[in-house]
Amino acid sequence: MKSIYDVISKEKLNAVSQPIEKAHGLPNECYLNEEYLTIERKKLFEDKWVVIGVASSIPNIGDAKPFELLGIPLIILRDKNNNIRVFHNVCSHRGYKLLQKKCNIKNVIRCPYHSWSYGLDGNLSATPHLGGMNKHDADGFDKSKSNLKEVRTYVWLDMIMVNISGNAEDFKTYIKPLSDRWEKFWPEKDRNLISYSKDYSYFLLKARCNWKFAIENYCESYHLPWVHPGLNSYSRIDDHYHIQGLPNRFAGQGTVVYNPKFKGGKLFPCFPNWPRDKEKIAEYVALFPNVMLGIHKDHYYAYWLEPISLTYTLEHMEIYYVGNEAANSKEYKSLREQNFKQWHSVQSEDLNIIEGMQDGRKSPIYNGGNFSPIMDNPTHHFHKWVVENIT
Ligand code: FES
Ligand SMILES: [Fe+2]
Repeated sequence: MKSIYDVISKEKLNAVSQPIEKAHGLPNECYLNEEYLTIERKKLFEDKWVVIGVASSIPNIGDAKPFELLGIPLIILRDKNNNIRVFHNVCSHRGYKLLQKKCNIKNVIRCPYHSWSYGLDGNLSATPHLGGMNKHDADGFDKSKSNLKEVRTYVWLDMIMVNISGNAEDFKTYIKPLSDRWEKFWPEKDRNLISYSKDYSYFLLKARCNWKFAIENYCESYHLPWVHPGLNSYSRIDDHYHIQGLPNRFAGQGTVVYNPKFKGGKLFPCFPNWPRDKEKIAEYVALFPNVMLGIHKDHYYAYWLEPISLTYTLEHMEIYYVGNEAANSKEYKSLREQNFKQWHSVQSEDLNIIEGMQDGRKSPIYNGGNFSPIMDNPTHHFHKWVVENIT
């Protein structure tokens, strides 16, 4: 792997870390260069905690699905103890990619090539004819050395977080600054009430652009009046405040006028310990690298990014309500539909913008641009995080 300085000059990278008045944004290479992407995959996606899905998408014991993290094949499954486990999706024998599509595994994951089989705990359980015809063991062959390789995994707010390299800090330490921040209005005891619905919890957007544009756009509220005129009619720029998490691992914005209204007048139930005097607060935080969170007194969402290539990203929106009744009963169905449509339309408005940013990056004269020292702070914060971690 090349060094980052073979791909991008020190001068350009230093410019990103300057105080915001003088700083430039990330250079074009970060959105266009394949060699840069190889470094980014290692430093930002293998060495950090990243989101690869949500536990509710595989609700039953034995549910399993393949996932590729920038080409790294993984298996996500729910084991016999109801725990989410992630393994590298490659047979220990001759390297066949084991799991091809989403399924429910009754007993074992069987490799289609020579039928080596693995339990839901990843242990190699059968090796037919390993020692010659009808001899399923062989002298000197230690099965336990050929189990599936497990990936460090932690489920937080239903998100399946993985750290491929195993080098990141302990998840609880990593998440503590954000978790503590929310404690005063969204206390931990309320967080396990989040409930996924079978009808209006999930949508997918396909973005013809680099994943980073989604994060840097999500962090700031500067674009509201022009990109989201509907939203801006009741939640204006100056109803927002910026969030910059230190140590630098998340950034975003909050509003002080959240006040949901639905046709029919009914409202969703709220988290029971969300304080009355903070009802109108909602926060929109990008947890680096690849998830954008939205927390409100009556619902929560995780909008996570699956980078496919430098210029193509899948955006997965997962919405949760307070308790199963709000999430799944007929009574709240019309509200769920309205809320779902609202988020779909807001995120689609952003999609046009971030794709246009990818197009602009083809300009050889663009130097990463200049920031508004006031309005672009969270975006600058994210760019600094990228540079800090790739260098
Ligand atoms: S490669 Fe899987 S059993 Fe041979
Ligand atoms: Fe937006």
